[in-house]
Amino acid sequence: MGDAPNMKRTQIILVTNQKGGSGKTTTAGNLAAGLNKLGKKVILVDCDPQNSVVLWFQNGNGEIPFPYTDLSGAKQNLASEIKKLTGTYEYIVIDGRPSLEGDIEALIVMSDLVILPLRPSLADFQAMRPTVGSIQEVQKKVNPDLRFGLLLNQVLGESRVLTKSCIEAIEHFDFPRCSTLIAFREIYAQAYAQGVTVFECKGKTARDASQEVLGMTQDVLSFLH
Ligand SMILES: Nc1ncnc2c1ncn2[C@@H]1O[C@H](COP(=O)(O)OP(=O)(O)O)[C@@H](O)[C@H]1O
Ligand SMILES: [Mg+2]
Repeated sequence: MGDAPNMKRTQIILVTNQKGGSGKTTTAGNLAAGLNKLGKKVILVDCDPQNSVVLWFQNGNGEIPFPYTDLSGAKQNLASEIKKLTGTYEYIVIDGRPSLEGDIEALIVMSDLVILPLRPSLADFQAMRPTVGSIQEVQKKVNPDLRFGLLLNQVLGESRVLTKSCIEAIEHFDFPRCSTLIAFREIYAQAYAQGVTVFECKGKTARDASQEVLGMTQDVLSFLH
């Protein structure tokens, strides 16, 4: 619908979690960067009144090699504004709003996939459950094709008790999850501060981060296929 000829239907990926600081903005930016690196036509959409995506781009001098748009102020027109972008891009990655109020529901309804980043702790796992509940409601009532996946972010070590018990909790509920773990790395915060992504950074840490971002991006794509 509305797509240019020879282009697959635009896939909308919403990154959300009502828990603040869980890594929504970092994940949305990394995912858009990963998709861009894989040659996909992608736009990153800022829907958060905190405006973190806009500030990320403004921290640099145009080094980020994919576009963004600011819909943080959009209210009732949010869904229609996002719809305008379909057809032009293969992927729309949305940095969602933290709250479950009002129009985050509209964003969930229009998405193909929702990614929920969370820090590996039981508190963060429990705080995320209502967001999964909302997604499952939408799956039941409106959009049975909607998918979701959890992403462990800011992981201090794969063998840490917190990481393992969080993975166990996810498996217990049979929630889909990216098998790639995003480590806690200063480079993610540094890249943000410099207005770049890890792909524009140099050095071993940047290479390691880029590898895990590509792994995460492949995991995300596999949810859509
Ligand atoms: N994997 C990570 N390693 C290190 N710092 C991270 C990582 N992910 C996020 N951060 C930092 O944690 C803070 C919160 O992340 P952010 O993506 O802004 O979360 P949210 O958008 O959910 O509020 C930011 O300072 C960000 O730079
Ligand atoms: Mg944010």
